[in-house]
Amino acid sequence: MYVFMKLQQHGGVQRALLALTVPLETLQVVKGRMLQAMCKGLSRQTHAQANVRMLPTYICSVPDGTEKGDLLVVELCQSHVRTLRMTLSGNGNQSPKVMYKIFDMPGDIKQGKGEALFDFIAQCVRQFLAGVSSPQQRLPLGFVFPFSCRQTGLDKAELICWSKGFSCSDVEGKDVVQLLQSAINKQELCHVDVVALMNDTVGTMMTCSTEGEPCEVALVMGMSTNSCFMAEAQQVEMAENASGQMCVNTEWGYFGDDGSLNDILTPYDQRVDQESANPGEKRFEKLVGSLYLGEIVRHALIALAAEKALFIGSSIDVLRTKDVLKTQHVLEISKAQSALEALGLQPSEQDCCRVQQICRAVVSRAAALGAAGLAAILSHMRQSRELEQMMVNVGVDSKLYQGHRLLAPECKATLLPSVDGTGRGAAMVTAVTLRLAAQRREVEQLLAPLRLSHADLERVQVLMRREMELGLGRESNANSSVRMLPTYVCSTPDGTERGEFLALDLGGTNFRVLVVRVAQDGIHMASEIYVIPTTVMQGTGEALFDHIIECIMDFQLKQNLMDQILPLGFTFSFPCQQLGLDKAVLLSWTKGFSASGCVGQDVVHLLREAAQRKQHLGLKVVAVVNDTVGTMMSCGYEDPKCEIGLIVGTGTNACYMEEMENVGTVEGEQGRMCINMEWGAFGDNGCLDDFFTNFDRLVDEKTINMGKQRFEKLISGMYLGEIVRHVLLALVEKQVLFRGKPCPKLQTRDIFQTKFLSTIETDGLALQKVRAILQDLDLQASFEDSILVQEVCQTVSLRAAQLCAAGLAAVVEKMRENRGLARLSVTVGVDGTLYKMHPHFSQNLQKMLRDLAPNCTVTLLQSEDGSGKGAALVAAVAWREAEL
Ligand code: BG6
Ligand code: GLC
Repeated sequence: MYVFMKLQQHGGVQRALLALTVPLETLQVVKGRMLQAMCKGLSRQTHAQANVRMLPTYICSVPDGTEKGDLLVVELCQSHVRTLRMTLSGNGNQSPKVMYKIFDMPGDIKQGKGEALFDFIAQCVRQFLAGVSSPQQRLPLGFVFPFSCRQTGLDKAELICWSKGFSCSDVEGKDVVQLLQSAINKQELCHVDVVALMNDTVGTMMTCSTEGEPCEVALVMGMSTNSCFMAEAQQVEMAENASGQMCVNTEWGYFGDDGSLNDILTPYDQRVDQESANPGEKRFEKLVGSLYLGEIVRHALIALAAEKALFIGSSIDVLRTKDVLKTQHVLEISKAQSALEALGLQPSEQDCCRVQQICRAVVSRAAALGAAGLAAILSHMRQSRELEQMMVNVGVDSKLYQGHRLLAPECKATLLPSVDGTGRGAAMVTAVTLRLAAQRREVEQLLAPLRLSHADLERVQVLMRREMELGLGRESNANSSVRMLPTYVCSTPDGTERGEFLALDLGGTNFRVLVVRVAQDGIHMASEIYVIPTTVMQGTGEALFDHIIECIMDFQLKQNLMDQILPLGFTFSFPCQQLGLDKAVLLSWTKGFSASGCVGQDVVHLLREAAQRKQHLGLKVVAVVNDTVGTMMSCGYEDPKCEIGLIVGTGTNACYMEEMENVGTVEGEQGRMCINMEWGAFGDNGCLDDFFTNFDRLVDEKTINMGKQRFEKLISGMYLGEIVRHVLLALVEKQVLFRGKPCPKLQTRDIFQTKFLSTIETDGLALQKVRAILQDLDLQASFEDSILVQEVCQTVSLRAAQLCAAGLAAVVEKMRENRGLARLSVTVGVDGTLYKMHPHFSQNLQKMLRDLAPNCTVTLLQSEDGSGKGAALVAAVAWREAEL
């Protein structure tokens, strides 16, 4: 009988322990469900139904150590108000001066009028300030308010609902920042400014952040439980227009309110819930928060006593009183016997032992579930940052087992205990807010000259139009910065062109040799890319043209074309005075070319001379075209409405079909001719001086053609990276980037390539990628730095696209007026690496173009085959005419 009873007792306790144990596989499932719940809370569509609310906090950065100044914090706690003043010296936040004071809260205030609560808090602030010497200068205040709030800014937060025994009237649905500020003003503390409101978890996260070691996750596992972490802002759909990162207050205490934890709930948990003030709510918190641990144990003990597995023969009536078992008893369970006796129980030695087991099981389960939650956060962060592995610091306000290691093995989390509670962190949030505001002012000031207004762009359009008119006039041509060069191309393709041609494409990123067959069934091409070393680009003209002939010969050999004499179309993307289709005098080099002895020479002649030197006798150059013209012709073959060519690549330029009667520089009044504008030089006569910034001047000074191609230097790929580099250097100097630390590698010319702009501005790019790009440049960028670099890139590329739009607007408007049309519908053939690779250039260009030329419908058609095809088409027409 005795043995049987022992077994029964043992079995009952074992069952209870088993029910309280959550095996690893189940914890994995809980983690998965938490992840799902988090995603539901983040998404705009499902947010309203989500239990885990994932509230945006508008805290977008962690301290970087440069914060300084005096800060005030007031923290509303369970039974008191804590005020704190901190002085930061900007030396890495190593040893801030902290003073604080605690004020007990009268018991009735929690359920009284809202106004009385806020008046009380404000009085605490006044008393505190009276005790510390406080100058009357503006004192920023951070408010720690540990309740669920709907925040729409750092200093705008509507209380969603009270909890933890608070139920003051007239506060729910109101902005608590305003309530506090008015109460403070009533105390005549007008210099105290409530600048930030935050939850206690956020305070913990900030407390644990130190210089160079940002803490990006925080757990509060105290009486209640909650967590927060730095999320990728674009995933926080409830926060409008957020970029970079934003701290999200998960409010995970509500996890499970939809039944998703039902399978792990024990009968004890159910009873705890039923007896609580909010049955059915905060199910996760009721498993994890220490407010409930004593209650869970109490119900387990009652049940076990009823089963005769514990306290046999003694009364357990005392256990029927709610909250009689304190959390402290549960945590300090080594002293089980004295604790149980103090309650009036008479435990046997075995009872003590078993109670200890139950307590440990309840605490371990709480820790394991907390760890499952943390693991969900870590996995979410790792996935959204697109990292294989992640290292992160987690601030913890309570003891927690390191269970997340098993649950999220790919994340290495370092747990940092929170030392000073949340107050110090709240001061840091406030300090960070102020630092960011000051930095923002600096950034705005620095970037302002790069931001063009609508009126600015209209002016650019008017100036371009004026320069176009000047450039077209016979007498005025010399005074214009836009050369408006006649091309002798008088029509776009009509589809009847036929034949096989060689083509050269020189002047963009790549030098290409092509063979192009224009046939009834379309155009067939084969091509090869050759490198032109910088030494050749900037050496002698002879060497450059010799190199070109060698490439042609190599190509013909490879294509088995050595024995054929094919007519050749030459795309030569530099400003040329065209004396005929096959005669083009180079006016100046651009884009990093400077081969000697070429300016003033006919480039076809230079090519023929080189062919002779190389004894290549089968070369028949029939047409030279600019790349803009090649592009227009190539796109014109697909779309007959294509009457404009635009390049935004290494350089920038445009051509369009102008009425012959307007072209004063060429005889004849009939029909149209394509004009190579050479708009890259727009502004070389000083007409754009108002728009050049210091950064533009610095870039220009270091080019081989200083003072030339000024418009091009604002827009094209060869220069945008350099502009960004100079802006970044200025931001470092102003101490708002990279914490003002010197960046030697960033001093190197051309180190910041324009292709980085395209990558950095890609939508949805994880900020980690921006950091990786900067890392390659030896730049240790924080997330804030990455966002700022992104903003600089956006500003510079937006200006480029808008300027390009202003130029194009002048062109289309002129064409519309030329033709006496109320509306013009026209297609632009476009080519160039920047245009093709940049994620927003094209949209920005089109948007601005619609604004500036509202009477034109402009279709941008991207050229797919390069301008060599266009050169072949021009050659085809010329060849046909020559044959006739
Ligand atoms: C190419 C054209 O596709 O684009 C060239 O074939 C042109 O003729 C070039 O010069 C412009 O772009 P990028 O970026 O190569 O200078
Ligand atoms: C430069 C050249 C011009 C060319 C443009 C685009 O501006 O001067 O001829 O069209 O680059 O490649």
